[in-house]
Amino acid sequence: MPHIHLIIGARPNYMKADPVYKALAATAQFQLTLVHTGQHYDHKMSQLFFDELGMQEPDITLEVGSGSHGAQTARILERYEKVLLENQPDLVMVFGDINSTVACALAAVKLHIPVAHVEAGLRSYDSRMPEEINRVLTDQIANILFITALDARDNLLKEGKTAESIHFVGNTMIDSLQAFKQHFSRSKIQERLNLTSAFALITLHRPSNVDDRSKLAELVSALEEITGKLDCVFPAHPRTRKNLADFGLLERLNNNPRFHLIDPLGYIDFMRLQRDAAIVITDSGGIQEESTCFGVPCLTVRENTERPVTITNGTNRLIGTDYHRIPAEVLQVLEADSVPKLIPERWDGQAAQRIAQILLKQDLTLFFN
Ligand code: UD1
Repeated sequence: MPHIHLIIGARPNYMKADPVYKALAATAQFQLTLVHTGQHYDHKMSQLFFDELGMQEPDITLEVGSGSHGAQTARILERYEKVLLENQPDLVMVFGDINSTVACALAAVKLHIPVAHVEAGLRSYDSRMPEEINRVLTDQIANILFITALDARDNLLKEGKTAESIHFVGNTMIDSLQAFKQHFSRSKIQERLNLTSAFALITLHRPSNVDDRSKLAELVSALEEITGKLDCVFPAHPRTRKNLADFGLLERLNNNPRFHLIDPLGYIDFMRLQRDAAIVITDSGGIQEESTCFGVPCLTVRENTERPVTITNGTNRLIGTDYHRIPAEVLQVLEADSVPKLIPERWDGQAAQRIAQILLKQDLTLFFN
């Protein structure tokens, strides 16, 4: 029976990998090993999701922790190579675009173990974004490419990948949304935060938005202005919280009764907030996709997106990084009668099933012969 390693490392990976693990396990045709690199390690960034998703606990943990990009990627590469040498799987599956994705893919192909990349072909064409480098490199060395939208196919073909290696399966993160949506109402987060009227949900953690003192100060001023119109809920990533504290911005936000700066949330609480928000303001990739499925307007605080289908079909708008424009953009959304809502093709909760069917038919011995 083919042995597959599934690699997870950081928060968005869990929701992408869980449905794939479950769909592969249901076939009873594969031996599965879940490997957690430990890129994220805080309870609220990691273990909480296993508990909530009822996710298989990792079989192997690499405990690499934080570090500079070079150090973190190198640690994963070195530790995962050792695991591969002992374990000899027939396929390594990587997800998304984080440092764990590229590091584990590289360790595998160097040992002539084929790699499948879930969420392949997304491109922002912004090489200053660490994730873009991770995406391009992972796709170059991956053998099987599972894509969420058709624009990804064009990107991959342009980069010389073959049509046979590309499989349009849909979005496994949306599989999780579909699988768990009946549980979102169970969350008591709105009651806990005492949210009785319309609110904005905010997540910002990209280095380009939160690592520079003056930019973060500008961003905070823009967010404060929004509280004139509606409550703001901001579950802050550890990086963002640390920078807010270091730059002396934390107290201002904590003293604003309409600004709820809180710790990172679990999946069910976060999804309830996202479903019920009047607007989402984010620099995340996955949230652009989830808000499109909820039909909730999303303002993306970036100059580009690797997920254009959320704009062409969904509720997403790119508003750039002139932060002073955010309050006016929010107002415009709140005053609009409706937002276009079209769920992208194959974002139907069946992506992991399609992946399982494709892998059942795939001869994994072909790639390195
Ligand atoms: C990583 C991914 C990013 C993804 C994000 C989701 C890369 C290059 N980036 O970014 O694509 O959107 O995860 O959250 O892989 N930290 C903690 N506890 C943790 C994890 C991180 O305190 O459990 C702090 C550390 O100070 C660390 C910093 O956050 O240095 C950044 O963590 P890191 O894993 O390097 O990248 P993220 O910004 O989380």
